[in-house]
Amino acid sequence: MINNEELLSFTGFSKEIGDLIPLLQTCQKQFGYISENSVRQIAHYLNISENHIYGVASFYSQFRFKKPGDNCIRVCLGTACHVQGSQHLSDEIKSKLGIEPGETTPDNRFDYEEVACLGCCAQASVVEINGKIFGKMTPEKLGKIIQDYE
Ligand code: FES
Repeated sequence: MINNEELLSFTGFSKEIGDLIPLLQTCQKQFGYISENSVRQIAHYLNISENHIYGVASFYSQFRFKKPGDNCIRVCLGTACHVQGSQHLSDEIKSKLGIEPGETTPDNRFDYEEVACLGCCAQASVVEINGKIFGKMTPEKLGKIIQDYE
């Protein structure tokens, strides 16, 4: 993976304000988040203020400003999963990892997100870890799976 301190490549962009979102998406894809360094470089490239970039980027939930953790845990709180008790999965993660949705553990090992549906409702309750789906989850099973990732 490319070090975030390296200069971004702006090849293919035209220095137009309309390039802002595609540039942010490029950073997000390349580094997993939008760093202060990336914002500074984009501001310089497009000749706009850093505040303008933060204002635009913070409107979209796809962009994050903190470095992601090594493992991303997503708990579904959609209707099918909620009915199957997914709130208990959320409680298990909060208690075990000591973080709230949208946060990263201090050791950067885990991110935690809550989502509306992971598209596999028949397996409710569902948890996704690093893109892998775990269905029919219980807090006990989830606790053991998290241990495997620790
Ligand atoms: S509601 Fe949880 S996967 Fe659809």
